[in-house]
Amino acid sequence: MASTVNVGILGKGTVGGAFRRLLNERADMVEEVSGRRPRVSGVLSRGTGDFDRLLARSEIIVELIGGTDPALDYVTRALEEGRHVVTANKQLLAQHGPELVAAARKGGAQLRFEAAVAGAIPVIRVVQESLGAIPIEKVFGIVNGTTNYILTEMARSGLSYEEAVAQAQELGYAEADPSDDVGGADAAAKMAILARLAFGAPVKLEDVPYEGIEQIKPDDLAYAKELSLSLKLLGVAERVGDGEISVRVFPCFLYPGHPLAPIEGPFNAVMVESPAITEITMSGPGAGGAETASAVLGDVVSVIGGGSPLFEENAKLRIAKDVEMAFYLHLEVDDRPGVLAQIAEVLGDNEVSVRSVVQRGLGGEAQLIMVMHPVSEKRFAAALRKIAKLKFLRSPPRSIRVIEEEWS
Ligand SMILES: NC(=O)c1ccc[n+]([C@@H]2O[C@H](COP(=O)([O-])OP(=O)(O)OC[C@H]3O[C@@H](n4cnc5c(N)ncnc54)[C@H](OP(=O)(O)O)[C@@H]3O)[C@@H](O)[C@H]2O)c1
Repeated sequence: MASTVNVGILGKGTVGGAFRRLLNERADMVEEVSGRRPRVSGVLSRGTGDFDRLLARSEIIVELIGGTDPALDYVTRALEEGRHVVTANKQLLAQHGPELVAAARKGGAQLRFEAAVAGAIPVIRVVQESLGAIPIEKVFGIVNGTTNYILTEMARSGLSYEEAVAQAQELGYAEADPSDDVGGADAAAKMAILARLAFGAPVKLEDVPYEGIEQIKPDDLAYAKELSLSLKLLGVAERVGDGEISVRVFPCFLYPGHPLAPIEGPFNAVMVESPAITEITMSGPGAGGAETASAVLGDVVSVIGGGSPLFEENAKLRIAKDVEMAFYLHLEVDDRPGVLAQIAEVLGDNEVSVRSVVQRGLGGEAQLIMVMHPVSEKRFAAALRKIAKLKFLRSPPRSIRVIEEEWS
């Protein structure tokens, strides 16, 4: 008879509940592939269960509470005491990855977290295990389904940002307080985790500058539609120079044909670029109880099967202080002579070169829509600060990054 592996579950909410059901449903299959039969040894929630007793009778702890308190304490203790841990908790990993790796080493335990990034898409496994031996140049993609849903609806139905958020909340794609998603913090935590894995460098959450989608206006999407561009909230982790990497989150226009352009609604997609493989794109559901639970179960099966993937953080890479990007700039100005010349002068002084300009008159006001060639982000920001002070500006300037590559 196959031996039993006791699995203690922390949390019985959306993912915890779905995982418990899935584990029971798939126990036969897990036994078939791993040679051991999983059994739920207990469940902890705010009102039920005792952590110490659960720990004593579990070989694997599955952490599905979320946040860092008390998850950090529970996970650290479990690892130090030699229990393997599977978690879906991106905040915990992004903020405390190195301590958790140390705890896992101390206890000789495995730490797995496939469900923490891009839900059901096996991106962690691909970056950590499948591509472990080849140098990754860039990992980037749409790692937040809530914002992708909101941007898709703004583009498709012409909804305002507020209307699209309300719709996402009604359908369960956004939480009552969506600030972590729409502000970019959720994506930043996921990108810190991916960057650490891809580059083997100790990227901290504070190293990831992020911007969200709260400032996006229907105008920006109308412009995108005119030029067949798509607007996505992207997370990017890339090598940018000698010994440097850059990890950031920002809204960005994509040209048609880009593999991320057709990813719509609450879906996620991640691309990995390396000279050895050119590029691969993985897409699928980024969240949802059942989808996330399936990624958690995959980790449980891997834990039972052995191996010990951990962060290896030996690379001596610095976080780049500046990178180059192309920008779209939207300005509302007085419609009078000399305005364009003054803006061009500020841009020129900061070595920002303009690729295209469209001007639309609206009575006494004009809209200027400019696209810049790739430029240092710092120089562009300096130019923008100066433009914002020009007297003829009717509202603050709005800029969005553009990925210029055309894909066939
Ligand atoms: N939902 C998704 O689609 C999704 C997708 C990817 C990753 N995740 C991650 O999965 C994790 C769980 O998310 P979720 O959506 O399942 O959360 P959830 O529905 O809010 O469930 C959280 C569970 O944790 C329990 N809990 C909270 N504080 C606790 C404490 N101090 N002690 C013991 N138990 C406590 C809650 O207990 P009570 O039942 O007593 O309230 C609840 O059962 C999070 O890290 C989240 O980021 C979720």
